[in-house]
Amino acid sequence: MIAIMGASGTTGGALLHSLTALGVPSRALTRDPDRLRTHLGDAARPLVDVLPADAADTDSLRAAFKGARQLFLAMANGPAQVEFETRAIDAAADAGVEHIVKISAPAAEPNSPVAVSRGHHAVEEHLRASGLAHTVLRPYAFMQNLLLLGPAVAAQGVVLGAMRDAPCNWVDCRDIGDVAAAVLTRPELVGGTYALTGSEAVGYGDLAETLTHLLGRRVRYVDLAPHELRDSLIQRAQLPSWLAEHVVEIQQLAVSRTESPTETVARVLGRAPRTLDAFLREHLARFR
Ligand SMILES: NC(=O)c1ccc[n+]([C@@H]2O[C@H](COP(=O)([O-])OP(=O)(O)OC[C@H]3O[C@@H](n4cnc5c(N)ncnc54)[C@H](OP(=O)(O)O)[C@@H]3O)[C@@H](O)[C@H]2O)c1
Repeated sequence: MIAIMGASGTTGGALLHSLTALGVPSRALTRDPDRLRTHLGDAARPLVDVLPADAADTDSLRAAFKGARQLFLAMANGPAQVEFETRAIDAAADAGVEHIVKISAPAAEPNSPVAVSRGHHAVEEHLRASGLAHTVLRPYAFMQNLLLLGPAVAAQGVVLGAMRDAPCNWVDCRDIGDVAAAVLTRPELVGGTYALTGSEAVGYGDLAETLTHLLGRRVRYVDLAPHELRDSLIQRAQLPSWLAEHVVEIQQLAVSRTESPTETVARVLGRAPRTLDAFLREHLARFR
């Protein structure tokens, strides 16, 4: 049995979908089982067991992991993320889980300039020390994040950022779900660290040009200083300060370390990754 932590979230939800498409049963874990059950599609319902689990509560984790051989671990960013993930790893080991697939992030290093990535590094180290078989997925920026730009593009025709003209790797979360499903169902893939990207790195200037072309009206990229972006995210978008800081740090990472695409998605899945162009066309209504 495969247990999925974060099954109601972006990557966990994508994995649930990918496993269902393969006809593989899974156990979806959430703090709110009723809400998740109402969101399951007809295809998923017969294959997916929904169980309660709260990473703040070790007993709930042990109960939720009982009988599972593999665990997919994705956790929302937040101040308690490292504590939650390390507790989940310990509870999984106690419950007899044999293999954990963890969603990590680029630059997961002890001195990373991105605080969230330092946290992911700490969790990766905990995972290595656990003695369990483990596979680490390090996706770059989710294409799904771009939907947050929709309102500003629609209302003002602007993309706001602080990434200058740096290229940025975008990956469609559905490809992350497909890679995770492959790792969980193909033993030869277990044990690696996989950096996941789309097929091209695209900066905000080029993104604005693509949106201009697709929407048939001008979309401009407005490049802000990092502190201006942080203030705008806190004051206008009402993000908590730690999240605004995270967005700024991620964008500065793209500036300080040139990003180029990896071949990983194609190598694992035997097909090209989903493209940014296709993603934008599919979700164009969100930018109108
Ligand atoms: N966004 C990006 O571009 C990007 C890029 C690279 C890496 N990442 C990494 O990807 C990871 C996963 O992101 P995601 O977007 O899939 O996450 P998400 O959708 O924000 O959240 C995943 C899940 O975390 C669960 N959760 C939160 N607190 C919990 C708790 N106390 N106990 C149990 N579950 C809890 C929630 O489930 P319930 O509410 O149902 O309990 C939620 O569905 C993050 O750690 C992030 O650092 C993100």
